[in-house]
This record gives sequence, structure tokens and C-alpha cells, in this order.
Amino acid sequence: MSLRFAHRVERLRTRIDERSVESLLITSRPNVRYLSGFTGSAGSLLVGKEFAVLLTDKRYTLRARSEAPGFEVVVPENPDDDVLKTQMESRGLRKIGFEANHITVKTLEGWQEKYGELGIEWVPTNGVVEELRMVKDAQEVASIREACGIADAAFRHIQLFLQPEAVELDVAMELEFYMRRQGARRPAFESIVASGEHSAMPHAEVSERRFQPGDFVTLDFGAEVNGYCSDITRTVVIGKATPEQRRLYEVVLEAQLRAIDAIKPGVKGADVDAIARQVITDAGYGDYFTHSLGHSLGLSVHDGPGLGQKSEVVLEPGMVFTVEPGIYIEGFGGVRIEDDVLVTEAGAEVLTHSPKHLMEFPA
Ligand code: GLY
Ligand code: MN
Ligand code: MN
Repeated sequence: MSLRFAHRVERLRTRIDERSVESLLITSRPNVRYLSGFTGSAGSLLVGKEFAVLLTDKRYTLRARSEAPGFEVVVPENPDDDVLKTQMESRGLRKIGFEANHITVKTLEGWQEKYGELGIEWVPTNGVVEELRMVKDAQEVASIREACGIADAAFRHIQLFLQPEAVELDVAMELEFYMRRQGARRPAFESIVASGEHSAMPHAEVSERRFQPGDFVTLDFGAEVNGYCSDITRTVVIGKATPEQRRLYEVVLEAQLRAIDAIKPGVKGADVDAIARQVITDAGYGDYFTHSLGHSLGLSVHDGPGLGQKSEVVLEPGMVFTVEPGIYIEGFGGVRIEDDVLVTEAGAEVLTHSPKHLMEFPA
């Protein structure tokens, strides 16, 4: 096993001890990838003090062996083989922790029924691997950095397309095509291009609406590189911005800059959210900032606890968060500005570098 994955598995083993289970069954795809390196769509890990097994199927035998050399790869030899059962039986397991936040009630009931005769005690766990994932190593940060660079390049590129009569869907497709051509494996999530009244919806569905002079347009997109995500939002105006649009934009920008300034090790997630929220509330728009300030970013776009009103997370160097305040006014439009921020020993480093002054198109 490469040192990197061995270290992760060792950290997981200390959590097994803390929970006094004999092993953990890891079924979440990003968690499987994080611990083993395996990227296939069907696979789970059974990790105990003395063993680390990757259960998959014959479509993935070779890939699993090559991507996850530190794991014993087990696949069913014929359709009736139940490799999980065989593992539990041969290792004499009785008490297994599972990822309760990733499986359905039906799956658990299926295990209880199928493996009832083995007398297994299924112990729910919640976010064990996600907690390990919060602090990124240098290689992970490098991938996020690259994903951020591609998002920044895409924002530069897309400006050519921000014109009256442009269609939201076309702009979204161009963003995604461009990011892939620049080396993204895929978009990190379905891009949002929300114009005019649609921009009042924080997560609008891309439509065939055409941009009109006077529209706010919110572009929210990101790239995936080596499994790691970037997530950026810029809001622009088609035509000339009105004084009211400028004011709204300046409030969101001020909230975002103040929050980023507050990011450093030891600060609580909720306190960073409160700083942005206070700026927006003082300006009279508190009721229109309807979501959390940001989320952890990594192998998933929403990668774990983040910067919200109830967030107990204490920031540590190596954590990466989005900072994305917004104001959304029905019938008028909305503004969101989002950057990705690495917590460092000294404070914070902003990983996305697209300009943040209010841009009007055509320029
Ligand atoms: N694009 C999803 C988000 O910003 O959280
Ligand atoms: Mn976003
Ligand atoms: Mn986000």
C-alpha cells in the first residue's frame, strides 16, 4: 500500500478502536476512493485491525488490483457467491460498523435478514471517514488548486459568450465543454447559469431563457481533477448595472471579503458565517441570505461540515471551504459570489482568482 493510503487506513483503524467495533464496512464511493484509491462505481471496503479488503465484482478486478494494491481484492466467482458473507464468516466478525449516513433503511434490513444467522451486530456510524477527509494533504490541495485554475480559466473564456440573447443552456454547455478540454475529468456538479428572475433562486435549473439587458446572471460551476472539486460563483450584469444592483453586489462582496479575512486556524465555522451574515443584515438584507456561508470542499462538492450558523467545526490548516454569501430577491434577482479558500498556518489562501468587481457585458 502506498504510504498515503496506508496512513489513511491507520487513522481509520484508530476510529475502529474508539467505537469498539471489529471492522468498518465502507460503502460511500468517495470514502472508498479516499481510503483505497479505487475509483470504480461498485465497491466497498471492509477494514479491521489486521485486514483491509476491497469487495467488488469481475468488471473491476484488474482496475481494483492496480488502483488499490494495498487492499486484498475479493470478487464473486459466480453469481451466487456472497463475498461479504464469506469475509464475515471466515474472519469470525460479530460487530461491524457501517456508514449509516450513506445507506438506505432497505439495505440495512437486507443485511439483517440475509446475515441474521451469523448473529452480526450492525453498529451505525456517521461521518467517520468524512471527518478524516476534512484536512487535506499536499497532493489533495494540489488537485483542488488545479481544479480551481481550470474554473478560473473557464470564467475568462465564458466572458465572450455573455451577451444579450445568449441562452442559459448554451452558456452552461460551453463552460462544461471548456473545462473538460482544459483537463477537467468532468464538471464537479451540474453548472448553474441563472439569469434575470432566475438568479433569485440560489440553485436554479438551467433553462432556455435568453439573457436580457438589465439581467443579473449568476454562473456557478466547477471542475473535477483527480476526483477533487472546485466550486466558484460569479454574478455579472448584462448591460449597465442600476444603482440598486450595484448596492446589492457591493454588500455581498463586502460580506464575502470580511468572512475570508476572518478565516484562520482555531476559528469556529459558525463565527465565520456570522461575520458575513452581520454585514448583510446591517445592510437590511438579512432575510434574503437564505443559506449557509459555505461548505467543505474535496472529493465531493459538499464534502462535510462547513461554515454555517450552527457549524461547530474548528478550522485547521489543510481544510478547504467555499465562501459564498448571497442575496436573493424574488422578482428582482440575486447575487452570489463564491470562492474556494484553504486554511493555512498563517490564515487563509484564496484558491480561485477570478475578478470580483461588478462586471457588465458586453464590456
Ligand atoms: N454549486 C453548489 C454550491 O455552490 O454549493
Ligand atoms: Mn457553487
Ligand atoms: Mn458551493
